[in-house]
Amino acid sequence: MPIRYDFTGRAAVVTGGAQGIGRAAVEKLVSGGAAVAIWDRDKAFAERTAKELSAKAKVIAVGVDVTDYAAVEKARDETVAAFGKIDILVNNAGIAGPIAKTWEHTLDQWNQVMAINLNGPFHCCKAIVPGMIAQNYGRIANVASIAGKEGNPNASAYSASKAGVIGLTKSLGKELASYDIAVNAITPAAAKTAIFEQITQAHIDFMLSRIPRGRFVTVEELANTIAFMCSEECSFTTGFTFDATGGRATY
Ligand SMILES: NC(=O)c1ccc[n+]([C@@H]2O[C@H](COP(=O)([O-])OP(=O)(O)OC[C@H]3O[C@@H](n4cnc5c(N)ncnc54)[C@H](O)[C@@H]3O)[C@@H](O)[C@H]2O)c1
Repeated sequence: MPIRYDFTGRAAVVTGGAQGIGRAAVEKLVSGGAAVAIWDRDKAFAERTAKELSAKAKVIAVGVDVTDYAAVEKARDETVAAFGKIDILVNNAGIAGPIAKTWEHTLDQWNQVMAINLNGPFHCCKAIVPGMIAQNYGRIANVASIAGKEGNPNASAYSASKAGVIGLTKSLGKELASYDIAVNAITPAAAKTAIFEQITQAHIDFMLSRIPRGRFVTVEELANTIAFMCSEECSFTTGFTFDATGGRATY
């Protein structure tokens, strides 16, 4: 029997929840009874996903680009208007960025990766955390990457952005530790999703070769850990980074 967490009465936001790891997280939250707002810059895709999953619980789609702070505040207001509050935030939206040597990244490429992968989670935390403090409850799950711990060659913008997410998690976790708010991150190894279309086969082969289990992690395996991070049961651990690397990580 898969572990089920009870999210009855909880309201969640999952950024980049239209597909991939985010969608798996939405499914897991919905199966536990949470109302979920899918925040995605691809609004049509988010609407399709919300429609598919809304038989079991309330799921809404909000079109938002997390790089735009004013749009994030608007999405928060729309979500609070729909659900009355936000208890859970999964910062998942992200891109791979260029597969190239550091000095070959263009300035625009570097800035775009930072804007989505690092500024995005900061924007969402900035907009949503005050409400969590006011209600003395919150669970934040940040989707980082093993690249943020190890630094993948030919992916320095991505690796640096994900290292930033781990640092953000550590700082915010400590700042909120006196409340019933937990802030944690997860560092997945490679999972077969649409993000693979953004990178080269050689880079995919490199990532697979570094996983001792010898296979990709599934989005369902990641969603199981994310669900724990979003649950009431995750009441003590905070500022921590959960491993999902099939044996690759050494810390
Ligand atoms: N798949 C992997 O191998 C892997 C490994 C480690 C970490 N991750 C991380 O997991 C997260 C999800 O990845 P995935 O593989 O499911 O990717 P994906 O490409 O399948 O899905 C990402 C979703 O994020 C949305 N998105 C992108 N930029 C956005 C923005 N600016 N604002 C709002 N939404 C935006 C996209 O529209 C898409 O629906 C990312 O942060 C990624 O870096 C993925």
